[in-house]
Amino acid sequence: MNRYEFLKSMGFGGAALMAVLTSCVSQEDTYVPVTTIDPKATTSSTGNSNIGATPITDISKITNPLIKIDISANSNSALKKVSGYVVQSGIVVAQVAAGTYAAVTNTCSHEPKKQVIFDSGEFYCTAHGARFDITGKGLNSVGSKGVKAYNVATDGKTVVVY
Ligand code: FES
Repeated sequence: MNRYEFLKSMGFGGAALMAVLTSCVSQEDTYVPVTTIDPKATTSSTGNSNIGATPITDISKITNPLIKIDISANSNSALKKVSGYVVQSGIVVAQVAAGTYAAVTNTCSHEPKKQVIFDSGEFYCTAHGARFDITGKGLNSVGSKGVKAYNVATDGKTVVVY
């Protein structure tokens, strides 16, 4: 169990979890900064390696994006705040920490219901309570299969899911 999993099991979520993760770090601690998540620790079952939204500066180099979201548009204002999320083209995109985004399918792996949202620092299915971390990994028995997660990048104006 790593620090993130431990804190989640203790009930930390959302901004509180991010605050704890970025504080109280000593030299002996092994931790993963939210914006530079170790790809080995965050690679999903789909093989994606940019899960958890490591921002890159030139999003124009991303070929075949699944969706591009203008985060300045009023229709996407939810993405301007931490814990805000939108659902587009069957994908839930959330701002999981300041300036850091993550995306998973909104189709649950428990049953194919399109009810996955972002809540309290994790992805959550409103049908039967499946829980998934920001990499799509299952956090409880109902969510044990995990959900497909996507690579995400942003230049601060546009969020690209690919
Ligand atoms: S369909 Fe998502 S928890 Fe059952």
